[in-house]
Parts: sequence; C-alpha cells; structure tokens
Amino acid sequence: MIARFLPGSTTTIPDVAAVPRHIAIIMDGNGRWAKKRFMPRVMGHKQGVESLRKVVKACRDFGVDYLTVFAFSSENWRRPKDEVTFLMALFLKALEREVCKMHENNIRLKIIGDRSRFAEELKQSMIDAEALTASNSGLTLTIAANYGGRWDVINAVQSMLKAHPQLAQNFTEADLQPYLSLGDAPEPDLFIRTGGEQRVSNFMLWQLAYTELYFTDTLWPAFGRKEFEKALDSYKNRERRFGQTGEQVQRNQNA
Ligand code: IPE
Ligand code: IPE
Ligand code: MG
Repeated sequence: MIARFLPGSTTTIPDVAAVPRHIAIIMDGNGRWAKKRFMPRVMGHKQGVESLRKVVKACRDFGVDYLTVFAFSSENWRRPKDEVTFLMALFLKALEREVCKMHENNIRLKIIGDRSRFAEELKQSMIDAEALTASNSGLTLTIAANYGGRWDVINAVQSMLKAHPQLAQNFTEADLQPYLSLGDAPEPDLFIRTGGEQRVSNFMLWQLAYTELYFTDTLWPAFGRKEFEKALDSYKNRERRFGQTGEQVQRNQNA
C-alpha cells in the first residue's frame, strides 16, 4: 500500500476554506419519512437514493472534493431480516444503475467497511465500480457499508502491524493514519446528520476529531439542495479553533 502522508488535525492545524473540502453525512430518518406517509419503511430507503443523488450534484456544484455517506452500519444487521435484504438489493441495484453516470461525471467511487458479509454479486459490483472510476479526478464519493468507526481503528492497527511488526512497540498517529479507511482523504470539515438524532452512531470516530457537527430534524428523504445550502451556511459561520484561542485564529486570518 502506497499511502500519502496526510497530517491529522490533532498534530497540525489544517487550512480552512469557506466551502468544506470533505463532508460526511449520516443519512438518517428514512423509516420515519415513509411511516409518516403510511408507507413501508423500505420506501424511505428508496427515496433516500434520490436525496443522495441531489447532494452529490450539489457537492459537485459547490466544489466539495470528498463526500462520505453512511449507508449501512455494522449495527444495522440487527434490523428485521426483510429490511436488511431490501437494503442489500437496493445497494446492488443503485450501484449498477448509477455507476456509468458517475463515471461520466468524473466521480471517483469508493466503498469502505467490512465487505466479508456481503453476497458475492454485491462484492463484485463494488470491485467493478471502484475499478471503473478509480482514475477520475472530480468528486470522491465514499460509501460506508457495513462500516463502524471502532472496526476501522482496529482494522487499521492490524493492517499496520502486519506491514510493520516492529511498530508493535511504539507507534504514532502518523504511522496509523495511512491504514485507516479514509487514509488518503483529508479529515471531514463538516458532518451532517439528518433525522433529528444528535449522536455519531459509530461513524468515523477517529476522523471526526475536529469536524464541525451539524444536526437537522429534516428526514433524509426530504433533504435536498436547499437543506444542503443551509448546512454550508452554518459551516461558514463557525470559527474553527483546533485548540487555539479565538484571538489567535483571528490574528492568523488577518496576517
Ligand atoms: C437511515 O434511515 C438508513 C439506514 C440506517 C440504512 P433509518 O432506516 O434509520 O430511518 P429511521 O431512523 O428509522 O427513521
Ligand atoms: C446510522 O443510522 C446508520 C446509517 C445511517 C446508515 P441508524 O438509524 O442506524 O442509527 P441509530 O442506531 O439510530 O443510532
Ligand atoms: Mg435511523
């Protein structure tokens, strides 16, 4: 694995721009959206794909470089079997249907998470979609599937030690960073969670160290461009201090 070294927000103060370079989203509230309309929960998941399409378009328009979305958590296997089966089928269908359009739009698709539990057909589709879009230079869209933040850290430690057994004695953040799922991406600047819950639900625990958090009650299937712009506006008004004082930040901005 050849990894670019990207300093983390706890070791270096990153450059901050008005538009986030990397946005991470927990797309929550699909089931409640459907229930409110007297439809089965899974219709909310179906509609959620449309919201993702809108947000991908908005990210491209605003010049966001990385979008990472939580599609299925390592804990979502606890859901009723029918819902899990539907989600897997939807994932496969959406991948197969959308990948050519993504490729035309210069999008690089990546999938993170533990793939070992997925069906062979889905695993193959993931490999094909990533291979087709690997050299695209536009938006990097990362889909977290059977992903968990704790899994990510443990997996990274294991991979690092396999490659460099001597690091078992002592290692740094910089040693570990390339082995994390998003080791080749900057840390998220903005985290969005739809659906009203204010929690992280085991998503990107390591990478969110200094990310700005934005929560909205809007349910994911109802989230579109207008809501996305509201989140960007909120981000624009944040002062990212990374441990410094407000005075230090302002002095640096005026320098
Ligand atoms: C998020 O929506 C999608 C997944 C977890 C796959 P939910 O299905 O969690 O919707 P709510 O939270 O029950 O409304
Ligand atoms: C988090 O949503 C996972 C995804 C959006 C894929 P959940 O709806 O599963 O989260 P909790 O369990 O309510 O925290
Ligand atoms: Mg939920």
